[in-house]
Amino acid sequence: MDHVQRAHFPHHQLQQQPQIIIRALDVGALEPDGADAVRGLGARPKTLPPKYFYDAQGSRLFDRITTLPEYYLTRTEQLILADCARRLGGLVGPADLIELGAGSARKTRLVIDALMAQAALKAPLLYVPIDVSEAALEEAAAGLVAAFPRLVVSALVATYETGLAALPPRLAPRRLMMFLGSTIGNLDPAESEAFFAGVARALEPGDALLLGFDLVKTPGVIEAAYNDAQGVTAAFNLNMLRHLNRRFDGDFDLGRFQHRAFFNAEASQIEMHLASAGAQFVRLRKLGFATRFEAGETIRTEISRKFRFGDMAAAVERHGFALAERWRDDQQWFAVALFRRV
Ligand code: AVI
Repeated sequence: MDHVQRAHFPHHQLQQQPQIIIRALDVGALEPDGADAVRGLGARPKTLPPKYFYDAQGSRLFDRITTLPEYYLTRTEQLILADCARRLGGLVGPADLIELGAGSARKTRLVIDALMAQAALKAPLLYVPIDVSEAALEEAAAGLVAAFPRLVVSALVATYETGLAALPPRLAPRRLMMFLGSTIGNLDPAESEAFFAGVARALEPGDALLLGFDLVKTPGVIEAAYNDAQGVTAAFNLNMLRHLNRRFDGDFDLGRFQHRAFFNAEASQIEMHLASAGAQFVRLRKLGFATRFEAGETIRTEISRKFRFGDMAAAVERHGFALAERWRDDQQWFAVALFRRV
C-alpha cells in the first residue's frame, strides 16, 4: 500500500499528510512474549488470556461468529448504532474519532458518517484506531480511506493502555472515544477499572465516550450465543491451542480438549473453557514450560460479562464522566451509551 506511512514511535509525522499512518508502539514490551500464557497455565484454575484467540484464523472465526443467528450481540448493536448515529453528530459536535479495536467496517462507518456531517467543509476527520493486530488495522484503514476521501487514519499498533497514552495531537476541538462490541465485558472488574482510568486520562472535559455493552438477560439466550449449533464458537475456542502450538512450539492435542461455555450467574458472566478429555501432559517447548491436566480439568479462556445498565453507568461515572444519552434495542438485550467527560 503506497499511501501507508509506517512510523515507529516516537516519530509522528502528520505534517506530511499521507492518508494512513500506522505507528507500532512497544506491544508486549512489559514482559517477555508468552509470559502471560505460562503464568495462566501454571495457575489453579488454569487460564489463558483472550488475546491468544486472535491469530489470522481466530480473527476469521470471530468474524463468522458475528454473523451467527445465535450471536445476537453484533447485529443488535448495529441496529442500535444506526439509530444512535442519527443524533450522535449533533450531540458530540466536531470531533476526532478514537476507536479501541480495529473497528468493523459497518459500525465505524456509521459513526464516521455522523462526525463527517459535523466537520467543517473540506476539513479532514482524524480517525485513530488502536489494536494489537497490524493486519486488522491495515485492512480497516484501507477500506475506510477508500470510502471517505477526507479521512486521515493515524493507527496505533498497541495495547489499549499503551495506545491511550500515545494519542496523536488533536485536529478537532473534541475527542470521541469509541469502545464497541461489548469488548469491555472481556475485562475482569479490576482490568475494567484500570481501563476506564486510562480512558479518563486520555480525555478532557467536554470529550465523549461511546460504549457498547451487553445486558443481563435470560441465561438460555446468552448461553446459546456461545454454544452455536454450527460449532463456530467451539472452533474459535480450540483455535487458541493451535495458535499456542505454532507460536510456542507446543503439543496441545486439539482432539483431547472440548469447548465449554456456561453462564456464571453469580459473576454475571459467560465463561468459556477448554476441558481436558483425559489426564495428559502438555508442553510449550519455546517457553520451557510443561503442565499436567487431570481428566476434566479446564482452562478458562474468556469471560464475557453481562451488565445491568445502571451498574455500568455508575462504574463509568466514578471515573469522571456523566451519562449524556443511552440507546437500547426493543428487547433491551444490548446498550450503547454516550458519556461526557466532566
Ligand atoms: C470480542 N468479544 C466481545 C466477544 C464476546 O462476546 O465476548 C468474543 C467472543 N467469544 C465468543 N464469542 C465471541
